Amino acid sequence: MISTTFTQWPLAKQHVLVRIDGNVPLHNDTIVNDFRLRAVEPTIRYLCNRGAFVTLITHIGNPRGYDPSVSTRPIAFWFNERQMPVLVLENTRFDPREKKGDQKFSQTLAHGHDYFINDAWGTMHRNDASIVALAKCFAPEQRSCGFLVQLETEKLSRLRNHPKRPFTLFLGGGKTIDKLRYLPTLIEQERLNHLVILPGIAHTFLAANGANGGKSPVHNDLFELCNTIKKLCHHHHVELHLPVDLLVGEGSWQGVKQIRAAESLQADDVSISIGPKSLETFQGIINRSESIFFNGIMGEPRIHGTLEFSERLLTAIGMSSAYTVIGGGDTVTLAERCNLSDYFSFCSSGGGSTLAYIAGTQLPGLSVFENQ
Ligand code: 3PG
Repeated sequence: MISTTFTQWPLAKQHVLVRIDGNVPLHNDTIVNDFRLRAVEPTIRYLCNRGAFVTLITHIGNPRGYDPSVSTRPIAFWFNERQMPVLVLENTRFDPREKKGDQKFSQTLAHGHDYFINDAWGTMHRNDASIVALAKCFAPEQRSCGFLVQLETEKLSRLRNHPKRPFTLFLGGGKTIDKLRYLPTLIEQERLNHLVILPGIAHTFLAANGANGGKSPVHNDLFELCNTIKKLCHHHHVELHLPVDLLVGEGSWQGVKQIRAAESLQADDVSISIGPKSLETFQGIINRSESIFFNGIMGEPRIHGTLEFSERLLTAIGMSSAYTVIGGGDTVTLAERCNLSDYFSFCSSGGGSTLAYIAGTQLPGLSVFENQ
């Protein structure tokens, strides 16, 4: 059970360091969607209202060294505009020691702070310095999870512990290796009934079967894992569904759009999303499901006309009577853009972290707090 012990701290004039997941989509210093900031607002407002001096830290993207396009400046403006006077440190990933989980780096971050709160749900599955080593710089009574982490674990435990069956997982988008590594555990523990693999992850599965991936990224090094996942699904009676047709752009995302059989992409095709036949099949699965988790939209939010099938799939999930959770920055951004977010049982701020949690694995960021 995750508790928010910070509500018992004497907060007035105390220096509180808060790790958030402020990995929001940015365009020319403008925040395109602020869902992840709204999600941590209750914790930050609570601290500010009680007179704490609040310092926020977060990563944005995956920069190699300093990169002004992923500076945290817009985040500082966002909080200050809403009367939350916080200090926001620069992107933690500007320093290579962050991804190495470096202890000295975390000690530098901790310096001068009385307390530490981790409310970065979307990053709890990482071993980054500001997630694990930093929490350990503080005594158990000086560190706590925030309100968001408490809410996420409460809402997601329904999928982690006793999902109503049939339970369907839709998985697509980027970060293929990150997402696939949780599947064997999910399948072996027979937590799932249907596994639906969407583009872009689907191309690696299709290519592992010998299909041409066209110009879409295929991870040859993951073929073995894909085949293992297929065998595990068969063995544990999990129905694995791959798209039968795809929407492609000829030559590029912006190219002339065509629908192709999933197994017959042309060398020049760039796969965008599933096609209409796959959508119909997946809608049938949604109608039969009692629990659904969706992570990873298909299409590119910055390219007009590529999100149609993601929108239609999200709409079908939103309209279903199942317990529905969607997760991940891009997924929730799309749901909000289509005014669909109120239709889901829960919108999670995590993609990979939520998948890891549902799979029943230990999240490094959470473990620090679990046994204290
Ligand atoms: C996310 O967007 O999923 C989180 O912010 C974690 O980011 P990462 O996958 O780059 O660690």
